[in-house]
Formats: sequence, structure tokens, C-alpha cells
Amino acid sequence: MGKRIVVLASGSGSNLQALLDHESTAEHVVAVLSDRNHAGALHRAAGAGLPAQAVPFGDHQGRAEWASELAAHVATYAPDLLVLAGFMRILPAAFVERWPTLNVHPSLLPAFPGGRAVESALAWGVKLTGATVHFVDEQVDHGPIVAQEAVPVRENDDEASLHARIQAVEHRLLPEAADLFCRGRLAVEGRHVRILP
Ligand code: GRF
Repeated sequence: MGKRIVVLASGSGSNLQALLDHESTAEHVVAVLSDRNHAGALHRAAGAGLPAQAVPFGDHQGRAEWASELAAHVATYAPDLLVLAGFMRILPAAFVERWPTLNVHPSLLPAFPGGRAVESALAWGVKLTGATVHFVDEQVDHGPIVAQEAVPVRENDDEASLHARIQAVEHRLLPEAADLFCRGRLAVEGRHVRILP
């Protein structure tokens, strides 16, 4: 079994599915948690026989109380790594100081951080955007970059078509990055992530 991964997801969970479909990464995933009661990711997790639980943001007095309940649940599973697979909440610094955390983002960071990366890339008129997997630090979409791949923007793209092609790349990069972590092959030195042989 080795390293233990807890996945946090807010949405449909296609990135979670990619982790579960990846032969060597899947066995490391021990639980899925969400900030939303009806996240598709929770259904996918339950379908795979994994513990799946929502810690809804709205049920709490504020971010600190919500985050401390979420942290208590995460701690139950004693993870070595958290993976944010479409998790749309900002985690407090205490979280990412406690657990190494990977995030997947639908742009070539540092371009277009935040929740509207695909829309913003289209509005800006860039010819290339892409997907980034990075370690999470205390700033949004900011930490050391593990993997990136470019996706060309087509003239007739809308947000849905571009996001779909970016997600196809995410579904490859995220499980590969998690796999490298589980094999002890990611070395973080400041902003730089080296992939060890
Ligand atoms: C992904 O595109 C991810 O980059 C962004 O949210 C989306 C989540 O999709 N942060 P899914 O829930 O994994 O299908």
C-alpha cells in the first residue's frame, strides 16, 4: 500500500476518476472528501468502494470552523498526500503546512490563476493555454510546479470545448504526478520540483 492519498473534490470528479483509473495511483487513494453534499466525486468514490464524505462549507460558522472540521476528517485517514481534484475552496496555511498537497489547475500558471482560468484565457485571446499540476502553498494557484502541458486554443473554441481538451490533459498529468510522489520521486527545492530518477 505505501503512501496514503486523500482526495478533496467539489465537482463532477473526472480528475478523481482519472486517479482511480490509473493502475499504480489508484491503490493509494484511501478516502474522498468534499465541501459539497452532492458532489459527483462523492458518488464516484462510493462506487469505487472508498469512504466518501461531505463537510459542507455552509454548515459552519466560518472558514476557520469549517477548515478545522475538514482537517479532523482528513487526519482520520492519516494521509501522506492530499490531492485537490477540482476542489473549489481555499485551504488555510495550516492545512498545507501539515500535509503535502497537489492541485490541478486549467491554465499554464502563473497565467490565469483563480476560478475562471479557461474563461479568462479565451477573453485574453491567448493562442496557448494548458494544464498545471503544482504543490499547494499558502497563496492561490501559486506553489512549486510539478508538471505542465500546453493546449492550443482554436479559433472556434468556447469555454466548454477548450475546457474539455484541457481536462483530457489534466487526467493524464494529475495521476502521473501523484504516482511520482508515491514513489518518492518528487524533490522540492524552493520553487523548483525535480523529478528524481
Ligand atoms: C478541473 O478542470 C480543475 O482544473 C478545476 O476544476 C475542474 C474540476 O473538474 N480546478 P472535475 O470535477 O475533476 O471533473
